[in-house]
Amino acid sequence: MTTKYHQILGDHRGKLIAIESGIDVPFEVKRVFYIYGTQSGIPRGQHSHHETKQYLIVVSGSCKVTLDNGNEKTTYKLNQPNLGLFQDRMVWGEMHDFSEDCVLLVLASEHYDEEDYIRNYDEFLEMYNV
Ligand code: TYD
Repeated sequence: MTTKYHQILGDHRGKLIAIESGIDVPFEVKRVFYIYGTQSGIPRGQHSHHETKQYLIVVSGSCKVTLDNGNEKTTYKLNQPNLGLFQDRMVWGEMHDFSEDCVLLVLASEHYDEEDYIRNYDEFLEMYNV
């Protein structure tokens, strides 16, 4: 499944969501990064990865994520902090339509390595011949 709703734990003090590596996400998490200070008209991403799998959670605000396996594009709206989106390796991803308060948390299966990126769309299509 690509999207998943996580259990919201909480009480009168507020809410809490726990994400465990290899349990709540389908890989061991080696890296975490987050994106904020974005603008609605300026998309990000626009790349795929040879190896890296990612799990995206908008912890504040909202954005849209379009995933493209070369044959099919699907756009997901992430607007709840308990909603996670899995982006497999070799899937082209673009994040767009950010709200001003958007904080997009990304859990990644690999350490950062620019060599793992495919930033050219034609190359992506050719490489995987999908
Ligand atoms: P970039 O890949 O352009 O961001 P996006 O995920 O929105 O496409 O990354 C922006 C800059 O940050 C670029 O110089 C690479 C660097 N970066 C790291 O150093 N480590 C990381 O884990 C990530 C995701 C990016």
